[in-house]
Amino acid sequence: MCGIVGAVAQRNIVPVLVEGLRRLEYRGYDSCGVAVLSNGEPRRARSVARVADLDEQVVRETQLSGMTGIAHTRWATHGAPVTHNAHPIFSRDTVALVHNGIIENYEALREMLRGKGYEFVSQTDTEVIAHLIHSMYRGDLFQTVRDAVQQLHGAYAIAVIHKDQPHTVVGARQGSPLVVGVGEGENFLASDALALAGSTDRFAFLEEGDVVEITLEGVKIADRDGLPAQREVRVVSAYGGAVELGPYRHFMQKEIFEQPRAITDTIPQSDSFDADLFGEKAAGVFSEIDSILILACGTSYYSGLTAKYWLESIAKIPTQVEIASEYRYRESVPNPKSLVVTISQSGETADTIAALKHAQSLGHKHTLAICNVATSAMVRQTELAFLTHAGTEIGVASTKAFTTQLTALFVLAVTLAKMRGFVDAKREAAYLAQLRHLPAALNSVLALEPQIIAWSEEFARKENALFLGRGLHYPIALEGALKLKEISYIHAEAYPAGELKHGPLALVTEAMPVVTVAPNDALLDKLKSNMQEVRARGGELYVFADADTRIVSEDGIQVIRMPEHYGALSPILHVVPLQMLAYHTACARGTDVDKPRNLAKSVTVE
Ligand code: G6P
Repeated sequence: MCGIVGAVAQRNIVPVLVEGLRRLEYRGYDSCGVAVLSNGEPRRARSVARVADLDEQVVRETQLSGMTGIAHTRWATHGAPVTHNAHPIFSRDTVALVHNGIIENYEALREMLRGKGYEFVSQTDTEVIAHLIHSMYRGDLFQTVRDAVQQLHGAYAIAVIHKDQPHTVVGARQGSPLVVGVGEGENFLASDALALAGSTDRFAFLEEGDVVEITLEGVKIADRDGLPAQREVRVVSAYGGAVELGPYRHFMQKEIFEQPRAITDTIPQSDSFDADLFGEKAAGVFSEIDSILILACGTSYYSGLTAKYWLESIAKIPTQVEIASEYRYRESVPNPKSLVVTISQSGETADTIAALKHAQSLGHKHTLAICNVATSAMVRQTELAFLTHAGTEIGVASTKAFTTQLTALFVLAVTLAKMRGFVDAKREAAYLAQLRHLPAALNSVLALEPQIIAWSEEFARKENALFLGRGLHYPIALEGALKLKEISYIHAEAYPAGELKHGPLALVTEAMPVVTVAPNDALLDKLKSNMQEVRARGGELYVFADADTRIVSEDGIQVIRMPEHYGALSPILHVVPLQMLAYHTACARGTDVDKPRNLAKSVTVE
């Protein structure tokens, strides 16, 4: 989703801004641009191609240079991804502005500004902010932005420069992320700290409603009430390596192969499953709750669906899982004794944050975030938190974030089970041993890559695919189908195998590949019958079968052998070949794997 970078320095900051955009590319975008104050005038370059194209323009063609500037990657919401809608947006060649989010009252503001003689040259909602600031400016950009944002309804992070204030960038955030990077005699703004790796490792995380001014000398912040505010400056390092591809073709492939490491880092160090892994207050909270409500979007939602099976079977705690964008607008019956668990890689997904706030407004007081970003809005908004340690995830299609979320949710299930008397010391030790062995087991699954590449050649020629799973592995089938459609653009649907005969069987012909997740669990015999239903209609089965299932390749059934059944943690192993199948199929089709069309990594708008 849109990314923002801003900088004030005593050197040409165009390379810093463009590098920042390159580091934000992973969020997903369809156009980009940069503007600087150059000899007192705002000048800009914009592109509807990649950041590399913008770089080419500003280095070779226009030799853009300046010491104060802003830059942007845009993911179109209002107005097509064409150059005149790309940011920075200008107002009367005086104000330049970049924006992430959606301004809900832009039509009313546009009419008001038209009345004052402003001409609109884009279809964006953003243009109203630029003109509004221009119309209200009386010599102090910081004060103007504080006044102007009072008139905006919706979500935004902005960065703005004015030709009369050559060493100043002003930013503001409400519902979209913005961080301040603190340097030596230079300061920065960005949508996330990753954008500024290499420029600074000191960051202040702005709160909702904050307005900030960065100059050469320092940083000034006003809170939502307009009062001077201090935000703690923290050192955030280890971001640099994440954006290097190393020996891999794509970040998605790199991230698939990082999973054993990411899971090792997420498994608690301690020798027991204790509530304090989730925060100081967790023991008290966990002893009060009688149910769980999980809220999430996308892949994170599927990790929640998987966790429901663990939470109900191991901890015997009733669990509901809801898509955040549905829950936030649905009339529901709140239960104050329920623990609300939000799951998010980024911790910035607008729908999940809104759903969390909605739950809180309904009286849910116990909240837990399972999140990959310690400094995210979501972690700040919940009572308890458990951090996954996947490391920065760049590929839009989530992989290592998913398996580390599953790891965290399994730890939650066993911790609650122990507190509720359903897991004794022996069982606890066995779960811990299984968790600790998981990275090694994952390595053996990763070694299946050559066989999966062979399958992907066949999949690349298909336009549809069905995924089947049962029980705990039904959400894994859903995730496998999601991965395939996200990056290869093949239409894929997942069904619990028992549902096949209630509809999707009508789609099964020789042309329909049916991917089957086949662990050696209690439902195996049922699954085998479902596979026969497919074979009887001529469907081609592609089965990921545990080594101890005795499912073998035969006419119309191709089998890739997984390790022996891994018990409750089996979903974490079974999702990995599905990730690899999607990845290699997409490669064979030649799609832009890390940045699939129309999708964004961090969905900071509704
Ligand atoms: C986007 C991403 C998905 C991700 C979802 C939720 O759609 O492309 O990969 O699963 O957002 O993101 P979150 O950061 O909340 O896990």
